[in-house]
Amino acid sequence: MKIVVIGGTGLIGSKLVNNLREHGHEALAASPKSGVNSVTGDGLANALKGASVVIDVTNSPSWEDTEVLKFFETSTRNLLAYEAAAGVGHHIALSVVGTERLIESGFFRAKLAQENLIKGSKNPYTIVRATQFFEFVKQIVDYSTEGDIVRMPPALIQPMAADDVASAVARIATNTPVNGTIEIGGPEQFRLDELARRFLAARQDPRKVISDPHGRYYGIEVSDTALVPDNNARLGETRFETWLTQSASQIPTALPQPTPVVAEVE
Ligand SMILES: NC(=O)c1ccc[n+]([C@@H]2O[C@H](COP(=O)([O-])OP(=O)(O)OC[C@H]3O[C@@H](n4cnc5c(N)ncnc54)[C@H](OP(=O)(O)O)[C@@H]3O)[C@@H](O)[C@H]2O)c1
Repeated sequence: MKIVVIGGTGLIGSKLVNNLREHGHEALAASPKSGVNSVTGDGLANALKGASVVIDVTNSPSWEDTEVLKFFETSTRNLLAYEAAAGVGHHIALSVVGTERLIESGFFRAKLAQENLIKGSKNPYTIVRATQFFEFVKQIVDYSTEGDIVRMPPALIQPMAADDVASAVARIATNTPVNGTIEIGGPEQFRLDELARRFLAARQDPRKVISDPHGRYYGIEVSDTALVPDNNARLGETRFETWLTQSASQIPTALPQPTPVVAEVE
């Protein structure tokens, strides 16, 4: 089965392409780097020839309110139109759990617009809403940092590993479209402030986390349950502690050292 991954060079996209290939599918990693642009339409008709499924895991280069909305609206309209013309039987888009509860943020308004365009189209589809990726926790913490202080709300969060996101989306891609939304999440719930503390402690980062009910998640206030999926969510297996240990071993601890000069023995 030919599956085109739009955004196939990104964090999720590259894992997804590998996963699909490992399962014997013809997976095409499409992105501006490979000459396929969902905003301008460049390369789309060619990339979609003979495709059964298109998975949209793009992200906007700019998260400024107007730019991000323009990105997801234009990109989604183009993808749906080119897919209809090419006879693609399944459009899958990766979105975020709780999107409609987070629309104080321009980014989430754009994701909701993306979802609504898909739901209003005639294309067979599945929207996959994922919780926050473990790989994204650093960015969440950085966003709420001032000096050495991180102000975080004690809201619930159920993050998941990007690898588990990719495997869940790959499985969905080989099934029939549900014409609805599937939620996916991590195996455990945390409080956001506690998650930030664990992350910083594991990285030996001296920043101090202050629990503050008015602290912000990505610039907006969130209710206690805004970020968590409902009880029917499909759960990934990777635990946060396991990911912390595994990912720490992949972070270079120091700058590359010069290769020691070994005297040649004659
Ligand atoms: N972060 C989270 O915790 C989270 C949680 C749930 C859902 N999501 C959603 O997951 C999706 C993927 O996130 P990610 O972190 O994997 O993204 P990412 O690493 O930033 O990758 C973005 C991808 O989009 C591609 N792209 C950008 N502009 C494009 C264009 N005009 N046409 C085609 N492709 C384009 C990029 O291609 P180039 O490499 O060529 O630039 C790249 O492959 C996003 O939609 C996000 O909303 C994220």
